Amino acid sequence: MALLDIRNLSIDIITAQGKIRVIDKATLNIVDGSIHGLVGESGSGKSLIAKAILGLHNENWIVTADRMFLGCTDLNKLSFRERRKIMGKEISIIFQNPRSYLDPSKRIFDQMREVLPNKIAKKRFIKRMASKSAHYLAIKELLHKVGIQNDKVVVNSFPHELSEGICQKVMIAMAIANNPRLLIADEPTTSMEAVTQAQIFRLLYKLNQLHNTTILLLSNNFGSISNLSDYISLIYCGQTVESGSYKQILKSPMHPYTQAMIKTILAFDEEVDHKSQLYTLPGSIPPANQLPIGCRLGPRCPKAQRTCVMNPEAVNYKGHIIRCHFPTLGEK
Ligand SMILES: Nc1ncnc2c1ncn2[C@@H]1O[C@H](COP(=O)(O)OP(=O)(O)OP(=O)(O)O)[C@@H](O)[C@H]1O
Ligand code: SF4
Ligand SMILES: [Mg+2]
Repeated sequence: MALLDIRNLSIDIITAQGKIRVIDKATLNIVDGSIHGLVGESGSGKSLIAKAILGLHNENWIVTADRMFLGCTDLNKLSFRERRKIMGKEISIIFQNPRSYLDPSKRIFDQMREVLPNKIAKKRFIKRMASKSAHYLAIKELLHKVGIQNDKVVVNSFPHELSEGICQKVMIAMAIANNPRLLIADEPTTSMEAVTQAQIFRLLYKLNQLHNTTILLLSNNFGSISNLSDYISLIYCGQTVESGSYKQILKSPMHPYTQAMIKTILAFDEEVDHKSQLYTLPGSIPPANQLPIGCRLGPRCPKAQRTCVMNPEAVNYKGHIIRCHFPTLGEK
């Protein structure tokens, strides 16, 4: 069953140069209890989609969607206040660079206390000291959940006294304080060293397996998140180009963009001659205000033909959602 069902989400941003369609009919179906990887190069629109899900947009954005349901709740029909209530309670987000999201002037204890569920926070008004220990116990439990054992040291520290990996674990602990149904991890390990990256990914996997937290994992690195994901969607220039289960995507990718991404990771696995060139798509992703006519991948696509000057529509082929005039059909 889908926990989050988004169909034809579009985002237009009003800029000084005019209206730009940064997300164009994106479709995302996140199965309850799964890890769903959303992969695309930098600038492809992953964070914009996350912000649209959270309702974190300003008046310069025009957000439309044919369908945007969280479980049985139609997010399109909620007022701003109702949407804010859902954020944090039902949907939480963690970002890259956790230090920049933590308040540098407050100890971790005080920052975590602010995000505790209301029922614990209310005890503050009953008896101050009793509430402090109730808070501490709740915080300690959360820190243990994310694998931080030395809770005493961490709660009394300021963010700058902790490593980046610990800060990210604290952010994850804060994000799961209200037992959200959906956790969005927006490039949670960018610029972290390999060991810390592995720890954070293991932690997200554990949260999913042990606590059944549904996770939407955004990344520009196909290789690093593909093994963790039950489902994978690929996004290019604001359009979801292919979506399917891990097996479907890895075993029988249909879209030239997905095939290129997979070829890139395989190139790292294969033995290659010294200083030989690794596979990569030619060119780079165009800025949102200089998009090509028709298929947005056109100028970089090895399979492009004349028809590609027309924008392909997304179609469902044996459970794959695919947006291409010439997909590779039925191959294993
Ligand atoms: N407020 C804005 N005004 C105009 N354009 C924007 C705005 N925010 C994002 N964009 C453009 O939308 C596109 C998608 O941006 P987004 O930040 O979602 O990419 P991303 O996939 O998250 O990239 P990264 O991997 O670097 O985080 C980019 O071309 C970006 O320049
Ligand atoms: S529609 Fe054409 S240009 Fe676009 S991905 Fe498919 S083959 Fe390539
Ligand atoms: Mg981003």
